Amino acid sequence: MRRAEGGLPVHNAPTRARARLADRMSLVAASPTMKVAAEADRLRRAGVDVVDLGAGEPDFPTPAHVKAAAVAAIERNFTRYTSNAGVLELKQAVCERMRTDYQVGLGPDEVIITAGGKQALHNAALAICQEGDEVVTHAPGWPTLVEQVRLAGATPVVARTHPDDGFTLHAERIVGAFTPRTRAVVINSPCNPTGALVSEAAMAAIADAAAARAIWIIVDLCYEHLIFDEVPHNLPGVLYARMRDRTVLCGSASKAYAMTGWRCGWMIAAPDVVEAAGALQSHQTSNVSSITQQAAIAALTGPREAVERMRDEYRERRDRLMEWLAPEPRVRCVRPAGAFYLFLDIAECLSPDGLRTSAEFARALIDEKAVALTPGEAFDAPGFVRISYAAAPHRLKEGAKRLLEFVAEYAP
Ligand SMILES: Cc1ncc(COP(=O)(O)O)c(C=O)c1O
Repeated sequence: MRRAEGGLPVHNAPTRARARLADRMSLVAASPTMKVAAEADRLRRAGVDVVDLGAGEPDFPTPAHVKAAAVAAIERNFTRYTSNAGVLELKQAVCERMRTDYQVGLGPDEVIITAGGKQALHNAALAICQEGDEVVTHAPGWPTLVEQVRLAGATPVVARTHPDDGFTLHAERIVGAFTPRTRAVVINSPCNPTGALVSEAAMAAIADAAAARAIWIIVDLCYEHLIFDEVPHNLPGVLYARMRDRTVLCGSASKAYAMTGWRCGWMIAAPDVVEAAGALQSHQTSNVSSITQQAAIAALTGPREAVERMRDEYRERRDRLMEWLAPEPRVRCVRPAGAFYLFLDIAECLSPDGLRTSAEFARALIDEKAVALTPGEAFDAPGFVRISYAAAPHRLKEGAKRLLEFVAEYAP
């Protein structure tokens, strides 16, 4: 054994060989969106004036009545374990929202409260998919969806959407990818990073084809309350009318209620799927923080003004940002219908002897202009970058200015 200067044994010395980890770990890499946040944070700590447009989270504080409910929960010592699946009042609040928002009737045995939408989606993947299965999803898309499918041992199959038609998800592309091994479809609408919505007609066509083949449909509704125009988006209603028993809906308090750090989401599915997810959670994370659950009840059942105000503000920012970027023809984007991202096509800024990839573009942009955004590679879409407009308008304006300067200086 090696000895340190004072003669004490040295364990875990930095020179030791890397331990061999489980094969499973070769299937998954750390979330690339989190890497951008870490880099922006590093520069900020070093005193650089970073414009951080990488973050996938609201810049608004959690609404006051939600925070007050959490404080009250602490004051009355609501600080113990709850049932794994969450407190009844919160499950009922989720049911009530589904009734109000989508006219879908549910019982609390069809709901489990999870540590964010992320855990809801992971529960669904683990409960439904296994080795030998294929799971059809769409790209550009949020990377966690495919990573979770891989972690469940299944193979993701990707149907592509394109900017030429607004990143519309065509049912034929999903259904055309079905094989005898297809076990599930994962749909995200509004979509991160494109902001595109899946139409009710497309969802109905996918559901009809899936129901005929006993394929599950998992829907990530994390941005469901961030849709900017009055467009029909009752995907739960469409699915419940066709294939209720094989539908899994995953929701989240994170984006609509500015509650990313509280970690609260929910999975809605048939009672046996909810029970399976409960068994998983009972050995993983147990219940979501008791305090968070009380806050989430207030969020779901309380006044809607804060949600509407934030959504209206995101719409305003989207429009301003598009105006600010419009003078530069080498960056183009589709007007997003929801969420809080612009997905910029920067292919014309790339060249073999300059910035070769969108990853290099994003790296150079943060190095040269201290603007953090997320390269399209993170969403299986090279040639694009994602700008989050969940940032104060004056910072967005500054970021847009620096981005245009950067393009003028570095693009061919
Ligand atoms: C598309 C999508 N789904 C789900 C999530 C999960 O969010 P959370 O776990 O905070 O609910 C995110 C977060 O960025 C997301 O972008």
